[in-house]
Amino acid sequence: MTDQDKQPTGDQSIGDKAKPQSAPLVRAPLRGEVPRRGLLLTAWLIFGAGVTGMVGAMTRFLFPNVLYEPPQEFKAGFPAEYAIDAVDTRYKASNAVWIIRESKGFYVLSTVCTHLGCTPNYLVAEEKFKCPCHGSGFIKSGINVEGPAPRPLERFKITLAEDGQLLIDKNTKYQQEKGQWGLPGSYLEYVG
Ligand code: FES
Repeated sequence: MTDQDKQPTGDQSIGDKAKPQSAPLVRAPLRGEVPRRGLLLTAWLIFGAGVTGMVGAMTRFLFPNVLYEPPQEFKAGFPAEYAIDAVDTRYKASNAVWIIRESKGFYVLSTVCTHLGCTPNYLVAEEKFKCPCHGSGFIKSGINVEGPAPRPLERFKITLAEDGQLLIDKNTKYQQEKGQWGLPGSYLEYVG
């Protein structure tokens, strides 16, 4: 075969050059049509969110439903730290009690209004507890004297601990209208 035989014919070389490079055809999404890749991603996101929610809910059951409250029994310092004839408010916010010292001893009042449970304020000048919700008033002993409160403030047990500190026990309460303010524990006799 001669070199002439190996040369491509004129028709062959023109045909090769004219052939366009074939690229994969991608159909453009029609109007309103969501691309399949987007649909898959959305499905995975929803699935992931669902799994995360379930794991979170299951984890929540692993921990007990504990309500953290201040202890019902607590020491409240030494008697000498309290001024005579004063309403001491240092345990109002933390333990919801007022501690009152008289010349003969101590008693403890609940800070819960006996009307609907609001927290009264002690007004030093007027020497009374005044509830900001509906205006109930209580004198220093805890007796209700004005407003809708139907009964006196409650008292809690107070004794002396072995180390000489005041020991308040909110598990034991005393109600005046039931004649309980005369019971042992409702009043701590102390002359210091
Ligand atoms: S809650 Fe105190 S007066 Fe109503």
